[in-house]
Amino acid sequence: MSNSNMSDDSVTSNMTYMFVAMAVMAGIIYVLANTIGGEPEKTADNKSTNVAERIAPVGKVSIAGAVLNAVIPTANAAANGKSVYESGCSACHATGVAGSPKVGDKAAWKARIAAGNKTLYKNAISGFQGKKGVMPAKGGFSNLSDAEVKAAVDYMVKSSK
Ligand code: HEC
Repeated sequence: MSNSNMSDDSVTSNMTYMFVAMAVMAGIIYVLANTIGGEPEKTADNKSTNVAERIAPVGKVSIAGAVLNAVIPTANAAANGKSVYESGCSACHATGVAGSPKVGDKAAWKARIAAGNKTLYKNAISGFQGKKGVMPAKGGFSNLSDAEVKAAVDYMVKSSK
């Protein structure tokens, strides 16, 4: 089987399914951790029961927390392309300021999209001097992660096809 026919859309939706599946797994692990931990039985040995009571919730929370921490930032980055675009990139790309390709202008994006995501990501993250103007690295928003810039590019490309 070859991946070369896979469209960007199917890659994106595969990733979305993966994130959802991971989030569901995190939920299951959390429920299992709660079930297994359970309520410690009251025994005559109050001291050890108290220790178990005090330790158990920490264990449960840290297992579920670790899984959620691993899943949530990546899922957010994928989901936030639109908001990254709107809060930053749109300053130029909404109207085509300074020679930037306007989002939604299919003609302006056709050749760029044809160059492939790898080129678009690289040019958006590192910036570049093109024929029309200068695209600053990350649009000048150096606080953005590479993943956030990529998500914004995905959103812009999707909206300009
Ligand atoms: C200060 C204005 C400005 C901002 C802000 C800006 N861009 Fe750009 N961008 C440009 C210009 C100008 C070009 C076109 C350069 C050329 O081709 O001559 C461009 C081109 C691009 C391209 C096409 C790259 C290619 O290979 O043709 C992508 C993708 C892109 N920008 C993504 C982004 C993203 C994502 C953001 C927000 C994080 C962003 N831009 C913010 C000005 C801007």
